[in-house]
Amino acid sequence: MTAHSEMPKTEKTKTVHIKSYGCQMNVYDASRMGDVLAPLGYQAGDDMASADLVILNTCHIREKAAEKVYSELGRLRMEKDRRAGSDNPMVIAVGGCVAQAEGEEILRRAPYVDMVFGPQTYHRLPLMLRTLESGKRAVVDTEFPAEDKFDQLPDAGKVDGASAFLTVQEGCDKFCTFCVVPYTRGAEFSRPADPVLREARLLVGKGAREITLLGQNVNAYHGETPDGGEWTLGRLIRELADIDGLDRIRYITSYPAEVDEDLISAHRDVPELMPFLHLPVQAGSDKVLKAMNRRHTSGDYADVVRRLRDAQPDLALSSDFIVGFPGETDADFEQTMALVRDIGFVQAYSFKYSPRQGTPAADMDEQVPEKVMSARLAELQDELNRQQLAFNDHCVGQTMPVLFDRPGVRDGQLVGRSPFMQAVHCELPNAHLGEIVDVMIDKAKPNSLSSVPLVKPSTTDDHNIRGAVA
Ligand code: SAH
Ligand code: F3S
Repeated sequence: MTAHSEMPKTEKTKTVHIKSYGCQMNVYDASRMGDVLAPLGYQAGDDMASADLVILNTCHIREKAAEKVYSELGRLRMEKDRRAGSDNPMVIAVGGCVAQAEGEEILRRAPYVDMVFGPQTYHRLPLMLRTLESGKRAVVDTEFPAEDKFDQLPDAGKVDGASAFLTVQEGCDKFCTFCVVPYTRGAEFSRPADPVLREARLLVGKGAREITLLGQNVNAYHGETPDGGEWTLGRLIRELADIDGLDRIRYITSYPAEVDEDLISAHRDVPELMPFLHLPVQAGSDKVLKAMNRRHTSGDYADVVRRLRDAQPDLALSSDFIVGFPGETDADFEQTMALVRDIGFVQAYSFKYSPRQGTPAADMDEQVPEKVMSARLAELQDELNRQQLAFNDHCVGQTMPVLFDRPGVRDGQLVGRSPFMQAVHCELPNAHLGEIVDVMIDKAKPNSLSSVPLVKPSTTDDHNIRGAVA
């Protein structure tokens, strides 16, 4: 035993402020970092400037996302300098995918950073902190460790609201030629089924009524079972649906070529599985999809969507799009527009292609000029916004069950999610926080709906609304 491991664990209450960028998995990771730090006396603090430990939980997916970290670090440096030598110095940590991708480079660009750790090593935060306390100037831990992070993490702590995230799969082996995820999150890995069910029960016990299953390729899930078998995502969803008190299940993000019959039939048979699916397509041109190393054509995508909609006619779709991938011509882009018009989406994320160092596409010829990308993005977003508003408009006059999980900006107002992931506002007393309430939609805006409560008792499976995207 070293002298440091004999140090009392909780000397005083300290605060940690974790700022997450990027995807939902970072939000989940941040809450698990909180669980790891709690036994060391760290409590979550809202104020970044006064926190003892600040963790920037970063995103590396596009250049802009990565650059945000350095501007935030610049601001933090001033606070750290101000507190230097006082009895509450600031420890600055950079976690997440920028940390994984850049490692030591972060210390060169921002030498006042104390800790750099990747998405697969945050269970070792106590050890990193002890190493710092022992006088080491800075700690970098961006290995892909042999041990399973999830085995080392303590139980999930408190649930923030009625909707919780649960990571079931991590990493990606698809190597889309534009994407850093396979390099920052590592190889595809599925958590065994038992600990996933255990964590889900724990979350429900702590107040979660909705769980969103997370994975970079969540539908590639193939979790071991104790009897040596394997569960698909569809099977896992069926088992989760049996948990008393778990009313809603969602999953994100899916890969089109890996949508299987099991998952499709879960959409037909499991009422707890919400009729909303985020299914990134990226582009409509088969030439571009091939250059992206996507393992589906636009026809395959349309086919998967058709099978899903046969199983669940109410299914509302969301997607990701990249415009201006190297070599994308006007005619290629037109095929993206055609796909959008054919399929119909109720919401979507769309981005200009951002070259990422170390990915094959960054070195491809025919990079598309910025001006062309901007024009294509504007055209695409116009159509996607139009479809989103059309769907929202179509919901006016409909009744739907909404899970109210946060207070609204105005007093006496709550905000929740419809089955189709729309944000829904309603004048409701706080007592309804965490409840599923049937409401009537009375107004549609581009990004939200407003509603009035219905007096009849709430149900969880009453979402008979046809997807209506013109
Ligand atoms: N399956 C993943 C998706 C990865 S990133 C997950 O959700 O975890 C999310 C989206 O970012 C992608 O679907 C893609 O549309 C976009 N994206 C990824 N790399 C990009 C790049 N280099 N430039 C622009 N957009 C990118
Ligand atoms: Fe990225 Fe493609 Fe995997 S977008 S996360 S490499 S499926």
